Amino acid sequence: MKTLTTIKKMQQHAGQTVRIGCWLHGKRSSGKIQFLQLRDGTGFVQGVVVKSEVPEQTWEAAQKLTQESSLYAVGTVREEPRSPSGYELAVQDIEIIQLTQDYPITPKEHGVDFLMDRRHLWLRTPKQRAILVIRSEIIRAVQQFFDERGFTLVDPPILTPSSCEGTTNLFHTKYFDEDAYLTQSGQLYMEAAAMALGKVYSFGPTFRAEKSKTRRHLIEFWMIEPEMAFVDHEMNLQVQEQFVTHVVQTVVANCRKELETLGRDIGKLETVKAPFPRMTYDEAIDRLRAEGMDVPWGEDFGAPHETALAASFDRPVFITHYPTAIKAFYMKPDPSRPDVVLCADMIAPEGYGEIIGGSQRIDDPELLAERFAEHELPSDAYRWYLDLRQYGTVPHSGFGLGLERTVAWICGLDHVRETIPFPRMLYRLYP
Ligand code: 4AD
Ligand code: MG
Repeated sequence: MKTLTTIKKMQQHAGQTVRIGCWLHGKRSSGKIQFLQLRDGTGFVQGVVVKSEVPEQTWEAAQKLTQESSLYAVGTVREEPRSPSGYELAVQDIEIIQLTQDYPITPKEHGVDFLMDRRHLWLRTPKQRAILVIRSEIIRAVQQFFDERGFTLVDPPILTPSSCEGTTNLFHTKYFDEDAYLTQSGQLYMEAAAMALGKVYSFGPTFRAEKSKTRRHLIEFWMIEPEMAFVDHEMNLQVQEQFVTHVVQTVVANCRKELETLGRDIGKLETVKAPFPRMTYDEAIDRLRAEGMDVPWGEDFGAPHETALAASFDRPVFITHYPTAIKAFYMKPDPSRPDVVLCADMIAPEGYGEIIGGSQRIDDPELLAERFAEHELPSDAYRWYLDLRQYGTVPHSGFGLGLERTVAWICGLDHVRETIPFPRMLYRLYP
């Protein structure tokens, strides 16, 4: 029996006979030749079956194959300059594993709800495969960036007794006799870890029971959260712009084929290089007013505002120094102007909106206690967090990158629902 190989490794076997386990993606025939579009997860290749050159049973097996039938194909790897991979398979033998009947996702156009109900099958299409390959490469680039810079990977808990980003969108559950919530952000725990290990980052799922039905919101999404001791607001921004540059340029270098499958304009990613432009919240308000979008000072920006603010740049832009009143309790006020905080949102270009939220954290125990009172937070549940300011407090900063919004931007997708294998959205928990 021939050794099993993969479509991705076929070029190492040029001129040789190989066996691949695969599915039939599609088929066309010109009487005496059948062209099989084969996929095996690692890629796509055309299998060519010539009636006059193969045993009768191979020809008949090729005729029987239906969309998404599973098979082993044996053939010779041949150079074919017209093929995207540069190769094709001259098929000699076909071993059918299963003949699939009535595969629901046909080459015709389907509506999004139809596809979302069949997400478990939709993942097999070239575009969805390319997205998941890029998502995986982004995660690899994220880990590489932090590992090479002396960060330690730390895993915060998923079940928590209290909230990090506010109480309005917490997922409640029972924890035996106590109340518990699914984590909205690992940040507070990462602050404890930074006091133990210096520079840390986490990568894990987070949950927000947001009643938002937008193209940027998921109920379950994955966040990368670095936290750094002895790092101030300015240093925090520099880490972020280098980090995002590294992630985007790694994908451009390693996933060109997948970006092409998605029809992504790669030129729009190549310009993403640090340093990134910056503007304060005040400057952002002035810019929006100049464009006829009146936002009262003290209100948060919505998606149309973010899109307008990002429109004049070819790379992400930082918006810094938001009003203290609209940001989380833990952000450090600007010492020269306490009505704004030392924070930044990073807004992606091309209308993809906020991909990072970050800030310098309050390190002063008295000020943190004041904030707890103002925000009516239960000191009991957060006693451990207040301890961090009692026992060797230091200036520290961190941020959270939303993985799915980053994937949507890099892949050039209309909606975050395609950035994660099985999206959890308002009104969707299946499959
Ligand atoms: O701005 P957020 O809420 O910040 C935090 O949670 C901080 N505690 C992070 C930190 O400093 N360690 O969320 C961070 C990022 C957003 O910029 C966005 O990219 C993403 O998480 N995000 C979502 N992504 C998809 N669906 C949602 N519902 C999201 N909410 C936030
Ligand atoms: Mg935010």
